[in-house]
Amino acid sequence: MSTRNGGGLIGGDDTNRFVYVTAALAALNGLLFGFDTGVISGALLYIGETFPLLEESAAIEGIVVSGALVGAAIGAAIGGRLADVLGRRRLILVAAVIFFVGSLGMATAQNVWWLITARIVNGVAIGFASIVGPLYISEIAPPRIRGSLVSFNQLAITSGILVSYLVNYSLASQGAWRLMLGAGMIPALVLLVGMYFMPESPRWLVGEDRQEEARSTLERIRTATGVEEEIEEIERMEALEEEGITEVFKPWIRPALIVGAGLAVFQQVTGINTVIYYAPTILESTGFGGVASILATVGIGVINVTMTVVAVLLLDRIGRRPLLLAGLGGMLATLLVLGGAFYLPGLGGVLGYVATGSLMLYVAFFAIGLGPVFWLLISEIYPLNVRGTAMGVATVVNWLANLVVAQLFPQLFDTIGPALTFWLFAGLTAGAIVFTHYLVPETKGRSLEEIEAHLRETAVGDESLSMAERAPDADD
Ligand code: BGC
Repeated sequence: MSTRNGGGLIGGDDTNRFVYVTAALAALNGLLFGFDTGVISGALLYIGETFPLLEESAAIEGIVVSGALVGAAIGAAIGGRLADVLGRRRLILVAAVIFFVGSLGMATAQNVWWLITARIVNGVAIGFASIVGPLYISEIAPPRIRGSLVSFNQLAITSGILVSYLVNYSLASQGAWRLMLGAGMIPALVLLVGMYFMPESPRWLVGEDRQEEARSTLERIRTATGVEEEIEEIERMEALEEEGITEVFKPWIRPALIVGAGLAVFQQVTGINTVIYYAPTILESTGFGGVASILATVGIGVINVTMTVVAVLLLDRIGRRPLLLAGLGGMLATLLVLGGAFYLPGLGGVLGYVATGSLMLYVAFFAIGLGPVFWLLISEIYPLNVRGTAMGVATVVNWLANLVVAQLFPQLFDTIGPALTFWLFAGLTAGAIVFTHYLVPETKGRSLEEIEAHLRETAVGDESLSMAERAPDADD
């Protein structure tokens, strides 16, 4: 029998509403991730006026831009392990402090090296946030709505990107790049203060043998029924697990590692951030003027957020696999058209509209599938004792792939040209479809413990089966 500590926010039949508050606060991690990766494109236009070195050297400019991605890869590399050792909540608090310090550092930079250091520091926080946001939410969420709740984080990422476009747009006339970069301090502070009052993940607590705290957390975030059962289920799984970082490389976890790392690569090499980071450049080449392309970029941000809302509503109903496959199919089609529009002569006319339309649809298809589903699945498919570490592996791969694409894209665009570049992304998207079809499991409606139990069972069974074949039917 579970004990109730009724009263106020944590009592009564609406007890589980608290889980929404907790998830929304944790999703500020995503907001900062999106804001800090999106803001640089606009700020960059004005930083050079203060630090001419930036205008003189494309390499230095590249380092300023990619500093955050390098930092994020470092943060992701250590963040997963830290989430397992320190706990999820404490790592979020650490990330919030680093976000704050990094943003302050960027806003007050006195020279280029200071700015680059602050970008890298801020990037480390982005890396931490990108793991621990979805991880924490997945562990506090009830299975029935876990897909939607974890995808709050992706919704926050896309909102952060949109806010960064809007902040840049509104501060552009003053060229106030310090304010643009410093604005991230506000959500960082809200995250720090808000998270201080939030509970630790009950799953992590059970892993640390802190059952009593886990129980009282679950009583805050669930209705009274089922708390004991949930604790018992977590304990049962916990008892099967061995401690230690090497566990992550055990054969039975391998299929899940391949799914996580594979989706991480595909999420980036299918080109989304060439649009997110370089949209104005791409749009200008379709014949838009400067202002029009910045406005159209805001439009892309709005589409990205709107379609992520659609995904949040559908993920727990339709399931992860169907949305992922439909989204990838749409990305493939729009990339083929986009390449075609650039290939044919006469981009200034009707073809310019075709190109812009397909660019926007491409973002829409990313936003209902690969965008949210990657982060969701990597928070679901790993066993408890290595969840942070294994998510870390997938997340590092994601940031490294992001870095490579961000570096290569301008060169590809200039050398092989836009048509072939987009067709290359289309080819890689076709690869992602095959990968998903054969390997990606459905996790809708199952508890994290059920997903883990299934991974164990199937590992001792036929090793040659793919995860998708082993995956339980989406609607059983
Ligand atoms: C990706 C980011 C991307 C964003 C765009 C995220 O899921 O990880 O790299 O910028 O989606 O919405």
